[in-house]
Amino acid sequence: MANESDYWSKTRKEMREEDNLSLFKNWRTVRSIPIYKDNEFPMTYPVEVEYMLRRRHPEEIDRWKQILKEPFLGHTDASYKKARLSFFDGTVSTSWTLKSAHHILTFEGLSGKSIKEYDQIVEFGAGIGETARLILDLGFEGDYFILDLPETGRISNYYLQGKAKICDRLGDIPQGKNTLFIGTWSLSEVPEDYRNEVVAYFRNADFLIIFQRNIFGYDNYDYFTNVFPHKSNTDLTIRPIPWHRGAGGNFYVYASGKKTPSDGRNVVKPEYVLPPISEHRIRVALHLVSRIPHAIWRRRHRLIAAR
Ligand SMILES: C[S@@+](CC[C@H](N)C(=O)[O-])C[C@H]1O[C@@H](n2cnc3c(N)ncnc32)[C@H](O)[C@@H]1O
Repeated sequence: MANESDYWSKTRKEMREEDNLSLFKNWRTVRSIPIYKDNEFPMTYPVEVEYMLRRRHPEEIDRWKQILKEPFLGHTDASYKKARLSFFDGTVSTSWTLKSAHHILTFEGLSGKSIKEYDQIVEFGAGIGETARLILDLGFEGDYFILDLPETGRISNYYLQGKAKICDRLGDIPQGKNTLFIGTWSLSEVPEDYRNEVVAYFRNADFLIIFQRNIFGYDNYDYFTNVFPHKSNTDLTIRPIPWHRGAGGNFYVYASGKKTPSDGRNVVKPEYVLPPISEHRIRVALHLVSRIPHAIWRRRHRLIAAR
C-alpha cells in the first residue's frame, strides 16, 4: 500500500522542478499547498497568541518576542515586507510564524507541560519547518527529528540550517525515549495504513496533532477520535480551531501517552492559559476597534506625504 495520497505524489513531482531554494517562500508549490503564506488569518493569530503570551512570566515573554521575528530566509525583499506585521507592543512577526507559535502555546495550554521538557521531538510532515524553528529557538535541547518527504525535507533542512535531523524513513528515528510527536495537517493527509504504522511506532508518546475533518476522502474525525487513541495508547483532548473552517472543520488533538515516563519534570504550569474558544470573535473585534486610531493616523500620514 502506498504511503502517500495521489495529491502528494503529484505535488512531489512539481516540487522537484523548483530549483532556487533561496526563494522557496515564493515557490508556486509552497504557496499552493500551502506550507507558506503571507496572510494566514492575520486578524486572528496575533490576537490569540497575544492572549496566551500576556499571561506568561516576563522573562518568557521577552524570549518569545525575540524569536517571533520570522527569518528572511526564503523571501525576496518584497515578499518579506508584504508578510510582516506588528502586534503585542510593536513586536514584529508574520502571520505564518504566529500560526506556529499558536500551535506551541496551545499545546502547552492543553497539556500544562512545557514543550521543551521532552528528550526528543518528532515532527511528521513539518512543511518549511517554522514550528521546529520556534521550538529550537525557544531553547529546546533534545533531538529534533523531522520525518517528511524528501522534496519537503530539502526545504526544512535548508531553512533550519541543519539544526534538525531530517529523515524520510521511520526506522531512522529512535524509539523508547520521552517523545513528543507533532503532526499538524500532515498525519491526517496520509493513508490510514501508513498513519497506523507511524502511530504504533511512537505508541505511548505524547502527540500534538492538527487534522482537518475530511481530506482526500479520509474521515479524520472518526480516525482520530476512535482509532488513534487505541493505536497510540493515549488519552485525548480535542480543541476546535473555529476560524479554520475548510475541509469540514479543523481540530487540535493533544494526546497524552498513558505510559509517558514521569520523572518529575512534567509539573503542570498554571500560567499556561488557553483563550475561551467561544469568545474568539469578540477578541478579534476588540482588537480591530483598538487599532482604529492607529489606522486613522497612518491614513492621514500617507495623505500628507502624498501632497
Ligand atoms: C499540508 S502540509 C503541512 C505542513 C506543516 N505541518 C504545517 O502545518 O504547515 C503536509 C506535510 O506533510 C508532508 N507529507 C505528505 N505526505 C507525507 C508522507 N507520506 N510522509 C511524510 N510526510 C508527508 C508534506 O511534505 C508536508 O510537509
